[in-house]
Amino acid sequence: MYICSECGEGSTKWLGKCPSCGNWNTFVKHEMGGKGSKRKKTRVSFATERLSKAKELDTMRMPTGMPEFDRVLGGGLVKGEVVLLSGPPGIGKSTLLLQGIHKHTTLYISGEESSAQVKHRAQRLGVDLASIVFSETTQLESIVQGIAELQNKPDVVVVDSIQTIYSLDVESTPGSLAQIREVCNQLTQLAKKHHIPIIIVGHVTKDGDVAGPKTLEHIVDAVLTFEGERVSHLRVLRAKKNRFGSTDEIGVFEMKKDGLQPVADPLAFIGETGDIKTAGRAVVGIMEGQRPFFFEVQALAVQSNLAVPRRVVKGVHYNKVLLLLAVLQKHVRLKFGMYDVYVNVVGGVDVKSPAADLGIAAALISSVKDIPLARSTVFTGEIGLLGEVRKGFRQGKIEQEAKRLKFKTMLSAQNVSSVKDLMKKLQ
Ligand code: TYD
Ligand code: MG
Repeated sequence: MYICSECGEGSTKWLGKCPSCGNWNTFVKHEMGGKGSKRKKTRVSFATERLSKAKELDTMRMPTGMPEFDRVLGGGLVKGEVVLLSGPPGIGKSTLLLQGIHKHTTLYISGEESSAQVKHRAQRLGVDLASIVFSETTQLESIVQGIAELQNKPDVVVVDSIQTIYSLDVESTPGSLAQIREVCNQLTQLAKKHHIPIIIVGHVTKDGDVAGPKTLEHIVDAVLTFEGERVSHLRVLRAKKNRFGSTDEIGVFEMKKDGLQPVADPLAFIGETGDIKTAGRAVVGIMEGQRPFFFEVQALAVQSNLAVPRRVVKGVHYNKVLLLLAVLQKHVRLKFGMYDVYVNVVGGVDVKSPAADLGIAAALISSVKDIPLARSTVFTGEIGLLGEVRKGFRQGKIEQEAKRLKFKTMLSAQNVSSVKDLMKKLQ
């Protein structure tokens, strides 16, 4: 069997392009194993029930004790839900979970660290050890049976990480696509059967190319991503999918000596220092859920020697940058075709709000024209294909916050009508 490492699409033949997600060279071969297929051959009867008579879903929340974590979960964990927490190694996933779950009796299954290591860390974090039961077992069938036989079921189960757990039903090595899919499927059944929330940790590499967590996204109830750069201490927790809550809210943390601490400062992502006279950066104001936040977008445009100039984008949508470059080329005659362009958001976070458009465009103009922008100016607003500037989501609230934080100027749809106008205002 061949499985697409991007979206999980299966095929009996190798395919160059995935028919489901359109990515190239993503099909990886998998041995599916004999036993696993046995299940599919058993016939089951067709069962129906009246929806009106169906059992009510228990959506009572179990708060984690970390408000930033709860905010992203939608108020806390829900019984029987499966949460996939993904992020690059070393970002702080295990730390977040240890800090977040100790209010409940927890079964902590770790194939990554020994009990002594986890204990050491838990003590450092000031976590209540009494509520945690630890297991190093990484064999799925044994975990499933073990939990079924437990007299006192835990309130929460943590599996750290899915890449270390293996099923006897699958022949390939732990961490392979076939393994993690099987493990995820069975853990999901386990969660539903015993009404216990299970949090599964999944590692992804920086460029997300390890075949893995992505293919599990449709199986689980919620997918949380933990992002940030290891060099900076800021971490953003985001819900990519959430059956029991919104996907708007983010949780912001700082990694300190004694673990993750909540960050409420909307200016946390803006560096304090740096030469104000350098061109190519702009402060953008956007809404993240109910809260306004400010980010620094940097752009660098340098003359290109390549036939097809380079575009390297991090932190904002790649296609968004292409679109803005095209709009600027068309409406203010900036010849970006001659430039390599790099765009980055400071702090290693993702800024996906369309209200960042105006700031990205400003940073691009600033770099190519070599006009430094004042740090006391905030940009917020969407840009359309005609070069028009549109009001961003809850612009009023951002403006209020910008005033409170003593930004001197705010450029938005209110005072900038188009990219042409933006260019004039920047010069
Ligand atoms: P960890 O939770 O082990 O990451 P993951 O599970 O995502 O791989 O966190 C790893 C990093 O966090 C490690 O480099 C040390 C740092 N850290 C702190 O700075 N302070 C702390 O209190 C803890 C527990 C870890
Ligand atoms: Mg870990």
